[in-house]
Amino acid sequence: MTDHAPVAYTGPQRVLSGVQPSGALHLGNYLGALVKFARLQHGQPTFIFVADMHAITVWQEPAKLAAQTREIAAAYLAAGLDPAKAAIFPQSAVPEHAELAWIFNCVARLGWLDRMTQFKEKSGKHKERSSVGLYTYPVLQAADILVYKATHVPVGEDQKQHLELTRDIAAKFNHDYDAPGFFPLPDPLVQGPGARVMSLRDGSAKMSKSDESDYSRINLTDDSDTIAQKIRKARTDPAPLPETLEELATRPEADNLVGIFAALSERTKLDVLTEYAGQGFGTFKPVLADLVVATMGPVTAKMRDYMNDPGEIDSILATGAARARQVARPVVDEVRKLVGFWGA
Ligand code: TYM
Repeated sequence: MTDHAPVAYTGPQRVLSGVQPSGALHLGNYLGALVKFARLQHGQPTFIFVADMHAITVWQEPAKLAAQTREIAAAYLAAGLDPAKAAIFPQSAVPEHAELAWIFNCVARLGWLDRMTQFKEKSGKHKERSSVGLYTYPVLQAADILVYKATHVPVGEDQKQHLELTRDIAAKFNHDYDAPGFFPLPDPLVQGPGARVMSLRDGSAKMSKSDESDYSRINLTDDSDTIAQKIRKARTDPAPLPETLEELATRPEADNLVGIFAALSERTKLDVLTEYAGQGFGTFKPVLADLVVATMGPVTAKMRDYMNDPGEIDSILATGAARARQVARPVVDEVRKLVGFWGA
């Protein structure tokens, strides 16, 4: 090991992100992640994968996993990802993710992982019975990102801590192996009102696949009537919508609905307030429901079309995996040399 001041990475910029195939996608996934993927693909080279290796950190039915993987791919395509622009692939089809993850397991420190809040949330009271994979999950996530030397990672706010860890691993690897600037320190892209969509039943909990109440979330597979009913039943307070963001911030449920409206209509929350301040939820909820149905309806329909053509999805995934490997393999080969492995 030698001491080096951090040297900036000067390689190409690349976008990377992924979603786990571990349950139905919801509006939070759509606004926090999928919409951004589609926007970003037009700039830098983009890699969007289905995180099936992350999914098995908790039990997944083997007979269903491949179908769940195709479903996420269908959602990507329905949200506007273009396989001619972005490489779309299953994580497990690119073994370099796992190869780099092992090396990163030896770079990351136990103390860093002990601080990860998602492990605490997911393991709950049964820490001893959790898989070891659930614990080292963020290390695999760092490998997902750095195996492509990705510089920009569009995610929801809940992933920020994992991105911090990724930066720490990149910096320690560059330092320990005397390779200044080898890995970039990637930036999370979390801005916008859709970065943290909250439960429709509780403005202090995030919208989540694992919430027991289906009324807490809008699923990408919900039909128009279900969407409208869920918004009608969403928890709110009796006051009309306020004029300022400061007032809105003191009312989490109202804040959430305004945030969803803003994200779907690509406006700011203030802009939405300017239009609806003084109106009650009796007026605002039906307008919001119409907007959600109008935006999500076509996405859901396209997703169903893709799901009816698994052969097409499989061919997109296979092509995407081959393209991804072309970038990932040389990076892992360089890493093997830096680490000093035999034959590298
Ligand atoms: P996952 O599958 O839990 O969620 C996928 C994406 O959806 C975002 N998200 C939300 N955004 C706004 N509001 C919400 N309520 C909400 N819930 C979820 C997540 O932030 C995420 O962007 N660890 C990741 C998957 C992953 C990954 C990666 C992501 C594995 N490797 C490498 C980026 C880069 C996860 O569990 O996401």
